Parts: sequence; C-alpha cells; structure tokens
Amino acid sequence: MPRIHTSPMHLPDHVWQTISVAVTAEPKIDSTRNTPERLKDLYESDLAVVLMNGSEAMGFIAAWPVAEGFVEIGSIWIREDFRGQGLSNALYRAVASLSGISDVVTFGITTNPISVRVGKRVGLTIVEDWDRCVPSHLSCGICEIMTPAERPTCPKRGVSCWLRVMVRK
Ligand SMILES: CC(C)(COP(=O)(O)OP(=O)(O)OC[C@H]1O[C@@H](n2cnc3c(N)ncnc32)[C@H](O)[C@@H]1OP(=O)(O)O)[C@@H](O)C(=O)NCCC(=O)NCCS
Repeated sequence: MPRIHTSPMHLPDHVWQTISVAVTAEPKIDSTRNTPERLKDLYESDLAVVLMNGSEAMGFIAAWPVAEGFVEIGSIWIREDFRGQGLSNALYRAVASLSGISDVVTFGITTNPISVRVGKRVGLTIVEDWDRCVPSHLSCGICEIMTPAERPTCPKRGVSCWLRVMVRK
C-alpha cells in the first residue's frame, strides 16, 4: 500500500539516488537541479513529499524555494508502472499542505496537461498574464527549450506550457 512520507519521517539514503535518476530522465522535468543531495535537503526542510511502497520510492513532488517569497511546485513524478491510478492527487494534496509554502507565492510551470488537471484540484490556477504574479526570470528562467531572447514572446505560453499560481481557498 503506497504511503505518503513527509519530514521528519525517516527515509533511507538510497531513496534520493532513485528519485534523482528517475526524475532527471523525465523529458518534462528540469534536468539540472534534481540531485540526490538537493532532493534530500528539500525533504528535510519540509519542502518535498515522497510516496513510498515499502522501502521503494514510487513518487515525488517538491516545492522549490526559487527566490525570497516564491516557491515553485515541480519535479512531480510517479514511477511508470504506478501511473494512471490517481496517485498524483495524493502528492499534490500533500505538497499543498506543507507548512513551508503557506506564506509565499506558490506557482508551477508545466508542459504536462495531467499536471494542470491535478494541480487545479489543490488551487493551482492557470494565469494568462505571465508577467503579473511571478517575475519572468523565475517562471521562464530554467526553460530548456527557448533561448533567453525568445522567452518574452514565447508562443508556447498558455498553449502547451502553463503557468499556474496557487489560489488558497
Ligand atoms: C504527471 C504524473 C505525475 C501523473 O501521475 P499519475 O499518478 O499517473 O496521474 P493520475 O493517475 O493521478 O492521473 C491524474 C489525472 O490525469 C489523467 N491521466 C493520467 N494519465 C493520463 C494520460 N496518459 N492521458 C490523459 N490523461 C491522463 C487521469 O485520468 C486523471 O484524471 P482524473 O483524476 O480526472 O481521473 C505522471 O504521469 C508522471 O510521473 N509523468 C512523468 C513526469 C512528468 O511529466 N511530470 C510532470 C512535469 S510538470
């Protein structure tokens, strides 16, 4: 039975290596920042959630502190053989409840429509105007597709890439 883990619940060290390799291999996830050390650090800072099946990691989500007052929900991953069972809902719910994100602007950027759908259930709401709530160096700064010069007029915005900001109920 899959079980959500949040800090300070203990997790074995091999978990961070497993998640790092899996998340980094995903084409829709930023490939640069998900090192085992950073994932463990996020978890211990109460900014990440792990879904465990026994001693094996099968899901992950993080709230990356990207600037003073801003966290980015990202690195969401469900192990391939467990996808399509509704498990991402549990991860989104758990990350939305973390105390570390209660007083900050919480946003997410995704090219995955599944993430848009599930994120909406915890208040991650699509924003049309990309320059209003989140500085562009935070929203598009880690984009691996467009060059810095292309980003301000990126045609993918709102079409195949979505900026969402947490609206708390
Ligand atoms: C995105 C991801 C985390 C979703 O996890 P999941 O547990 O498989 O998703 P769920 O089973 O909770 O499905 C969520 C919703 O999406 C729908 N969905 C799931 N897979 C789908 C697919 N392949 N095509 C269309 N819809 C799909 C489900 O029907 C469900 O909708 P519902 O809740 O209204 O019934 C998972 O697919 C994944 O790890 N993908 C690779 C990494 C990635 O792309 N991360 C997102 C980067 S921002």
